[in-house]
Amino acid sequence: MAASEIVLAGAADRDLTQIDAYREVGGYATLDRARGMGPQAVLDELLTADIKGRGGAGFPMGRKASFIPKPGQNPNPTYLTVNADESEPGTFKDREIMLRVPHRLIEGCLITAHAIGSRNVFIYIRGEYLREFEIIRAALEQAHGAGLMGDVTIVLHRGAGAYICGEETALLESLEGERGQPRTKPPFPAIAGLYASPTLINNVETIATVPAIVEHGGAWYADQGTEGSRGTRVFSLSGNVRRGGNYELELGTTLRDLIYHHGGGLPGSRRIKAIIPGGSSVPVLTADDIDTPLTFEAMADKGTFLGSGAVIVIDDRCCMVQLGLRVAQFYMHESCGKCTPCREGTRWMVQILRKIEDGRAEQAELDLLLDVCDRILGKCLCPLGDAAAMPIASYVDKFRAEFQAHIDAGGCPYKGESSLERVFAPVDQHTHHPTVEVPA
Ligand SMILES: Cc1cc2nc3c(=O)[nH]c(=O)nc-3n(C[C@H](O)[C@H](O)[C@H](O)COP(=O)(O)O)c2cc1C
Ligand code: SF4
Repeated sequence: MAASEIVLAGAADRDLTQIDAYREVGGYATLDRARGMGPQAVLDELLTADIKGRGGAGFPMGRKASFIPKPGQNPNPTYLTVNADESEPGTFKDREIMLRVPHRLIEGCLITAHAIGSRNVFIYIRGEYLREFEIIRAALEQAHGAGLMGDVTIVLHRGAGAYICGEETALLESLEGERGQPRTKPPFPAIAGLYASPTLINNVETIATVPAIVEHGGAWYADQGTEGSRGTRVFSLSGNVRRGGNYELELGTTLRDLIYHHGGGLPGSRRIKAIIPGGSSVPVLTADDIDTPLTFEAMADKGTFLGSGAVIVIDDRCCMVQLGLRVAQFYMHESCGKCTPCREGTRWMVQILRKIEDGRAEQAELDLLLDVCDRILGKCLCPLGDAAAMPIASYVDKFRAEFQAHIDAGGCPYKGESSLERVFAPVDQHTHHPTVEVPA
């Protein structure tokens, strides 16, 4: 098996949404084997594989699973929750996994449930993913019909389309029927999660990798990628690139290889100006970083993150102020409002960026923007605040001259020719909050 085909393996040749086709490529054989192994033996394979979570934070999955209390250590039932909310801008890999290899996700759920002694699995799927929902539902019916569920129940739960419900504790609140707002941690979900019971939460891609890890062994998996970033990832490539899409590649592949070899490079004679390497919430890279390997460690060295694996290419037609405005609008709209720095700070960022773009900003407001970012960073209840502040601060930091040019010229130097022109969320017009002008 090619290293670059673990999660999506076989999907190019067969319709793996059908259980018979999935069985033809060895599907569900590993579930039988796993159930014949003790839960600890399965857990040991996950620990050896050293797979880091694919949802964004990159926490080692085996370690998180081993925090779940063992039978007899906690009186409450144990839950497994799959995060299929996928709302980080630029990210569309989980939907491809659900569309093309739903049984691999279900098999991963059943093996993981066995490893942590759980009989209750929830898949929390983004509300807009109707087709994916139908496909998973049909696959679940097939798995039921084939008698594969054992004593495990898998509940497929549709969200209502809120980015914050991808944050694990907000997801749990939402699943319990409450407003989707984050909880304070600790306690962590592994100890007190869904219904105050031990809960393992993992991303779709993480769980869909489990069958291959158990089939071939944790050591086999750990052999691929790099020491700090094992295995493969399904990278979502988008932006100003010829062949955007999902590419499952070994970790350690460079940005250059992904963008030019797999993505066909940029259209026309366009040049790379910036690269967002892990979804809209991470600090940006510049064209000089094109040879950076797609690994957790290399991105950390560059002051950014691999995040959700969404690589967004930004070419020389793009106004960085407009990009900042677009990103800040998203976070302002999605802030749940529970804590002040995020609720108020994201609005401030939007207002200042709007003034800069329109040529109404005073010189001091550029530093005020960085100050607002600084007052959000590390001061919020959940990482959404950081996710808003970090990218904006990085745009100013790395493209300050462009921000300055807006102030000097009294408007956007792209003069209506930026590729992001008029690509703005409707929140400016339809916000329910009164518009508050930033003090000069
Ligand atoms: C604002 C916010 C949104 C998030 N959205 C998602 C999401 O859509 N999907 C996801 O898997 N993780 C998302 N996460 C990360 C989850 O909180 C959590 O770390 C993840 O589901 C754990 O799974 P993993 O260890 O397999 O990555 C989000 C985090 C934050 C702070
Ligand atoms: S950081 Fe933002 S999204 Fe997170 S709890 Fe605070 S207000 Fe809500």
